[in-house]
Amino acid sequence: MNTYVTGSTIKQLREKRKLTQAELAERIGVSSKTISKWETAKGLPDISLLQPLAHTLGISVIELMNGEHIINRNVSANMLRCKFYVCPICGNAIHTLGNTVVSCCGITLPALEPEEADDYHTITIENVEDEHFITVHHPMTKAHYISFVAFVTSDRIQMVKLYPEGNAETRLQLRGMGFLYYYCNQHGLFKKKV
Ligand SMILES: [Fe+2]
Repeated sequence: MNTYVTGSTIKQLREKRKLTQAELAERIGVSSKTISKWETAKGLPDISLLQPLAHTLGISVIELMNGEHIINRNVSANMLRCKFYVCPICGNAIHTLGNTVVSCCGITLPALEPEEADDYHTITIENVEDEHFITVHHPMTKAHYISFVAFVTSDRIQMVKLYPEGNAETRLQLRGMGFLYYYCNQHGLFKKKV
């Protein structure tokens, strides 16, 4: 991970749960002096204590390490509010229904902010039988390429992985109102309403 739990995170969460240092200490089996040390950055919890600490503070270990409590308001899990994350190290592409903490290759990934297509990332959609042929007008070199294309409606996602030196095109079934997403490894995520 690029971050380890910080004292201010522990203190904030402890106070939010209305626990004293002594109460938190008792629940995870350490002394209150130890808690005080963590909160004042004079020590760090042993990794074996992260799970009980996170549990007592009411969050996940990854949230505790990230210093952020994610509240996912997408309770109806509408896929139109979905998020994409891409790891800049290994290229892993991750799709989630709502907000979450995603980490890959030891780093926490931000949710990508899709942009409207610009002149260098245009797309054409042609009807072919009961499908649609999608072409992204973009280079496909090893250094600069379209990594995936996805079509998202309120209840489903179709995601196609593309590879450098292949073609920036694919077939998808564009049924219903949705958004077409495509990701350039250099310029980020683009979105087009269909
Ligand atoms: Fe690009």
